[in-house]
Amino acid sequence: MNSQNEHKPYAGREDTDQKPALDRSVSMVEVTGFEARHYDVLMNLITGGTYPWFIRRVVRDMSIRPDDDILIFGSGTGRNACLMRRYLHAEGSILGLDIGDEMLTQARKRCRGRSNVTFEKLRIDEPLPYSEAFDKVFMAFVMHGFVQEDRERIIDNAFAALRPGGEFLILDYAECEPTESSWLVRKVFQMECPLATDFVRRDFQRILSAHGFEHFDVHLYYLGHVRLLSACRPPA
Ligand SMILES: C[S@@+](CC[C@H](N)C(=O)[O-])C[C@H]1O[C@@H](n2cnc3c(N)ncnc32)[C@H](O)[C@@H]1O
Repeated sequence: MNSQNEHKPYAGREDTDQKPALDRSVSMVEVTGFEARHYDVLMNLITGGTYPWFIRRVVRDMSIRPDDDILIFGSGTGRNACLMRRYLHAEGSILGLDIGDEMLTQARKRCRGRSNVTFEKLRIDEPLPYSEAFDKVFMAFVMHGFVQEDRERIIDNAFAALRPGGEFLILDYAECEPTESSWLVRKVFQMECPLATDFVRRDFQRILSAHGFEHFDVHLYYLGHVRLLSACRPPA
């Protein structure tokens, strides 16, 4: 038994010895081509047209302050950045990081003329040049696509980028055991990459705690299958 098993109802499922090793080759998080160019439309279709309302609610639940400096990990088409900007005054700012050229092109076009919203081509799973510079780090449907080693590096990057007291917000699938879930949930995880199943079996509050975060808060959506998990970097 590892120490993780003492904490969660999904105990034991984080053991890897009985499962094929998950490596980076199974990841589907780098979105390119047709899927990248039509990403927003595809998300609207997959969610039966509910995505625009859902993501507005998430952004509202982020409790953005007008002067927040927000860093987005895997900013995609810029849709989330545009929604967040509505809550900011001129003193606030948004910086989106992504590696997809098609995603960055759409994001820059969408946020053109908004001087406090910028995008950079940077990998979030490699060391980043930010230290205590942001009030919030946000990532939506990105974390599940990485192997655990890279997820932990991303968590460290978020911690370093946040000012003391700042907040890391992870919007992604909620913890569950897919094989014990409804037919629809099982189908979703069959279509997703295996890393998504690995992700939902892990206790991210415990993992974030181990990386120095505290004061967790949770908002649930889509019948509890999607979670906005926020965690604070302790104040100085
Ligand atoms: C599933 S999409 C989500 C996009 C956006 N967060 C959203 O919710 O609309 C994943 C995004 O992460 C980006 N991405 C994947 N790997 C990355 C990495 N290592 N560094 C930065 N961005 C990455 C992809 O290019 C893509 O835009």
